[in-house]
Amino acid sequence: MKTSHRIVIAALIVCGGLVSAADKVLSRTASSNRVEYLAGGQARIPSAYRTWTFVTSGLDMSYREDAGTDEHEFTNVFVDPDSMRAFQSTGRWPDGTVIVKEDREGITRGSINKAGRFQSTKVFGVELHIKDSARFQGGWGFYVSSGVADPATLMPASASCYSCHTAHAAVDTTFVQFYPTLIDIANTKGTLSAQYVRESKQGN
Ligand code: HEC
Repeated sequence: MKTSHRIVIAALIVCGGLVSAADKVLSRTASSNRVEYLAGGQARIPSAYRTWTFVTSGLDMSYREDAGTDEHEFTNVFVDPDSMRAFQSTGRWPDGTVIVKEDREGITRGSINKAGRFQSTKVFGVELHIKDSARFQGGWGFYVSSGVADPATLMPASASCYSCHTAHAAVDTTFVQFYPTLIDIANTKGTLSAQYVRESKQGN
C-alpha cells in the first residue's frame, strides 16, 4: 500500500472516531433535553432544563389575597430552545413544547448580603407543562415533582392546575402575561386567548 493511501485511511479512521464521538455528544444532549415517559403516569425531568431559555423568576407569587408566608420562593421558568424559537416567530407553542417551572428557596442571609433575597441551592419542587396533543386530553399535561426528585408524576385532568391555567393564562394555557419578553410577541401575533383579553379589560 502506498504511504499516501495509508495516510488517507488513517485520517478516515481518526475522522470516523471523531464523528462518532460528536454523534454521542449530540445524542446525549438531545436525550437530556427530552422528556422520557415511564410507566404509571411518570416522566423523567429533562436534566438539561437549566441550559434552556429562561423566561422569568416570579418572587413569592400567590393566587390568594390572604397569602403570607415566612418562606420565600422564586419560580424560575425555562422553555426548551426549539419551542422558544417557534414561539418567537409565531406567538404559538408547537406540539412537543416543554416548559419547566423550578420552585427555589429565596433567602437573605449569606456571604456579604444584608437585604433583599437571592436564590439558595434548595429546590422545593419542579413542575412540567408539556404540549402533546396525541398524549394529553386537551393538548397539555402537567407533571409535578417534590424537590429535585425524579421522575415527576402526571396530574389528573380534574386537578386545579388545568382549570386555573385554562381560565386565566394569556396564551394557550401558559401564563405568558408574566413572561416579560414573550407577552409583546403574543400581542403582535394576535395569539392572546379570548378570556385573557376579556379579563384584562375588566382590570383583573
Ligand atoms: C390559581 C392559578 C394556578 C393554579 C391552580 C396553578 N397554576 Fe401554574 N401557574 C400559575 C401562574 C400565575 C404562573 C406563572 C408563574 C410565574 O410567572 O412564575 C404559572 C406557571 C406555571 C408553569 C410554567 C408554565 C406555564 O404554563 O406558564 C408551570 C409548569 C405550572 N404553572 C405548573 C402548575 C401545576 C403542576 C399546577 C397544579 C399542581 C399549577 N401550575 C396550578 C397559576 C396557577
